[in-house]
Amino acid sequence: MAEAFAPGKCILFGEHAVVYGHPAVAVAIDQGVRVGVRESTEWILEGEPFVPSRHPHISHIIKNVFEYSGPPLRIEVESSLFSAAGMGSSAALSNAFGAALHCLLNPEEPLDPISMARLAHSAEASAQKGRASPTDTATSALGGCVVVSDLQVPGTRHVFDTSLTTPEGNRDWTINVIDIPAGIEDARLVIGFSGKGSPTGRMVARVAKLISESPERIEDMEAISNITKAGLTALSAGNLEALGMAMNACHERLQNLEVSSPQLDRMVEAARPHSLGAKLTGAGGGGCMVALTQNPSRVCEAIEVAGGRPLSTGLGSEGIRVLQS
Ligand code: MEV
Repeated sequence: MAEAFAPGKCILFGEHAVVYGHPAVAVAIDQGVRVGVRESTEWILEGEPFVPSRHPHISHIIKNVFEYSGPPLRIEVESSLFSAAGMGSSAALSNAFGAALHCLLNPEEPLDPISMARLAHSAEASAQKGRASPTDTATSALGGCVVVSDLQVPGTRHVFDTSLTTPEGNRDWTINVIDIPAGIEDARLVIGFSGKGSPTGRMVARVAKLISESPERIEDMEAISNITKAGLTALSAGNLEALGMAMNACHERLQNLEVSSPQLDRMVEAARPHSLGAKLTGAGGGGCMVALTQNPSRVCEAIEVAGGRPLSTGLGSEGIRVLQS
């Protein structure tokens, strides 16, 4: 059995705007997806017959990336992420599956996180009708704190570039990382799940429709871009108060783009008295919010009282890794 683990992610700034080339900042979280793969006599996924059309990420990786034509595979998946909730579960699944299959087929070849990030991004793009930024997949593969943008962002370390043809035109992104400063280590993120899934592809398509019908909403994208840059400066300097303020400002702009929901707003409001800042994270609609806090247990309680399911994590876990079985 070849096994790999890939973390989920939490977008601190820039969701949706990143699809249009603006910067986004995301951190890898402690929770993620573990995948085990071995040869078998039948195609099995999580104990059930594998139906490729129901699992577009996995079938894209098998067919189009590895062009696999070997014996059937038994695939086991174990996730500690809420799925379709803005925590990068499909990116973590694509990364962990890609890494496990790589280990099965090329056991002597070390895992290259950049190749895995590219592979998982192609799976996301194929499953999301060509609209996917590399944010989730790069953060899950590289770990730590990742900055994705159309241009190199000052103060970051460049890792790789990637591009994609989307229905709205060609997009180019540069993938960069920053080191999380010591001052940030005593803060935690509390992620609150609304209980309602939100398929990323549908939310991204909804924003595309909003922008085409109300072009003035581009102003919110540009504001998110400026907030992201201010948030990144605060994060790099270890300035928790400024980081939290930028998160609050980002939530308002995402509300203008109509990607928040009453339940997400309720959890954001409940978390704020005990937090430095709070906002929705990921695609929105349903999905999750995130609070930056030095009092995670109080925020977890507040989110539960507001009807959400909380989960606490540090900022910037290790990226994709092979597990020894
Ligand atoms: C989803 O986690 C983030 C979005 O910006 C979509 C993407 O980046 O592909 C909404």
